[in-house]
Amino acid sequence: MSKTLVLKLGKQPKANGFFKDSELNKEVFFDMNVAVDDNTKLLSLTKTLDKEMLFNDEYVYHSSGSKTMQFHFASIANQIKRQFSPKKVLEIGSNDGVFIKHFKKKHALCVEPCGNFADMTAGMGYKTYEAFWDDKLIEKIIRDDGLQDVVYAANCMCHIPEIGKAFEAVHDVLTADGVFVFEDPSLAEMFNRTSYDQIYDEHAHIFSVTALAEELMKVNMFIFHVENLSVHGGSNRIYAARIDSDYKVSKEVLNNLDYEKSIGLSTFGAYEQFADNVRQSRTRLIGLLYNIKNNHKKIISYGATSKSTTVFNYCGIDRTYIDYITDITPDKQGKLSPGMHIPVVSPEVGMNNSVDFAYLGAWNFANEIMEKESAFIERGGKFITHVPFAGILNPC
Ligand code: TMP
Repeated sequence: MSKTLVLKLGKQPKANGFFKDSELNKEVFFDMNVAVDDNTKLLSLTKTLDKEMLFNDEYVYHSSGSKTMQFHFASIANQIKRQFSPKKVLEIGSNDGVFIKHFKKKHALCVEPCGNFADMTAGMGYKTYEAFWDDKLIEKIIRDDGLQDVVYAANCMCHIPEIGKAFEAVHDVLTADGVFVFEDPSLAEMFNRTSYDQIYDEHAHIFSVTALAEELMKVNMFIFHVENLSVHGGSNRIYAARIDSDYKVSKEVLNNLDYEKSIGLSTFGAYEQFADNVRQSRTRLIGLLYNIKNNHKKIISYGATSKSTTVFNYCGIDRTYIDYITDITPDKQGKLSPGMHIPVVSPEVGMNNSVDFAYLGAWNFANEIMEKESAFIERGGKFITHVPFAGILNPC
């Protein structure tokens, strides 16, 4: 399997590794590079951290952390019920139960390697396997719980480095006409927006429909439908099934494959262009922040995201530019950001009258945040983003 290097994002820490002052000496860094598979066009990190290091009892990301995502999961749960009427549903990476809670307990199974989150769904009464998704687990599930009608995963399959084995396990656990529904950030959207901060340690891959069709074909599965979603800065929801099932391939699958071809995802040029755009984005963002600081204005960051870990470490943005980061997640507050060591505080503390500019670490929730922070905007506060270009979101 030959690969071509696309982009180097320098030394990066664990993206969600917010830590207390006293834990500074435990921080680890790795060289974060992405490469594209010459045959399948799967874009992946060239090196990943151990999965136990990333997904454990200290995992801090709550899938229900925004109204946008709560609504999103309620809506897809209802859609799955209406469309497939599954007797058995299994979720890979069930996090805090924001999706599975819409299904009856006797019909649903959770798989979640992070003990703190596995305890949450178990506490809600759902049978939960505290485990990584692998063939040993599948054997146990098939033996104890039987085959599944729907397997669902959101922002999880892209976390699994050995994606072929993970897809094979899905194939094996599905009933003959079972459906695999999964959604992850879209490579085409990342290229369109130069949102290179989709790349971080947990995202072992950024999927195109083109690459997924190839990878699923290897395990005798096919994509029969695709939905393009706005969440997480542009995602694709894939509907796949076993090759011998009767699902008809929708026109959206062909449209997506054609579109990806038209923007050059099957040739190397598009990847080189993306790398070039990323380098320009860094120069522009640093320039913008530098000018604002030169005018003696205060900048903070809004949303202590994994994405902002990539941006801050790649661009070398530290406390010289950003006084602190605000985030609603209690487990992140009172800690320092990975690599650049910027303090994290609650929005109640941080969004005070002294703030002139807020960089949107959570740019994917721009609408929700700008609505919530209307008072900041009304008193002249400005939001900064680097997506799709470094600039001020509400200049007037
Ligand atoms: P994500 O972009 O990876 O989903 O992470 C979003 C982060 O931003 C998460 O830590 C919660 C935080 N956040 C806020 O602090 N305030 C908000 O209004 C929203 C929507 C998110």
